[in-house]
Amino acid sequence: MTTRMAEFTIRKFKETDLPALTALIHKTIGACYPGHYCREAIHFFLRYHSEDTILEDARAGCTLVLDRAGRVFGTGTLIGDEIQRLFVDPVRQGEGFGRHLMQHLERAAVQHGIRTIQLDASLPAKPFYDRIGYVTITAASLPVENGRRLDFFKMQKILRQCVRSPRDLPLRVASSRPQAWAMVPRTGNPPSPSTAGSA
Ligand SMILES: CC(C)(COP(=O)(O)OP(=O)(O)OC[C@H]1O[C@@H](n2cnc3c(N)ncnc32)[C@H](O)[C@@H]1OP(=O)(O)O)[C@@H](O)C(=O)NCCC(=O)NCCS
Repeated sequence: MTTRMAEFTIRKFKETDLPALTALIHKTIGACYPGHYCREAIHFFLRYHSEDTILEDARAGCTLVLDRAGRVFGTGTLIGDEIQRLFVDPVRQGEGFGRHLMQHLERAAVQHGIRTIQLDASLPAKPFYDRIGYVTITAASLPVENGRRLDFFKMQKILRQCVRSPRDLPLRVASSRPQAWAMVPRTGNPPSPSTAGSA
């Protein structure tokens, strides 16, 4: 464990995070998607991840953020049985934060009685999802401007249990109120603060 890793917090999104979170997502798209996606597809992603949509999804589901010294550097959202909008700041990628966010989102899903989790994987993110146990259901695409196409993969994972992995990073959960996990009603109880912080 490095000091750098120990300095972060995972917590529930707050509405005051919205400008910084949107900027982080747009920065990450700008850094990671060229080379994988055409200009029109990137434009689609930027419009899709608008402040309005991010806020709407956070209200409908469970949006977590990684926070280091008050600066948001990663995020992921669980809505129903789907994980959306997983982004880690390009300068912090490859340090295990994406895996860590996913473990927390999967744990929240299990606590809500969800057994199979779905997601749409971007082209650059597919190897990451392969690595953490997601299987490809199908390749898919969306039409974007100028007759171009945005390709992605529909993936899923059967959640058996929340297993602590030796690769888990140390974690402090800042927002520990049960309503932090409020989301589309599902069977099962929301995780207690102690469960949510036990990764
Ligand atoms: C996808 C993303 C969230 C992954 O976050 P990350 O913090 O870099 O990933 P981690 O460091 O937790 O990686 C976990 C494992 O996946 C592997 N991995 C991550 N990206 C990989 C890649 N592109 N190719 C191969 N393996 C990869 C890591 O090596 C690590 O493996 P190991 O620890 O088992 O050896 C991040 O790269 C990102 O924000 N990408 C751009 C935005 C995006 O496409 N988001 C997904 C939208 S669907």
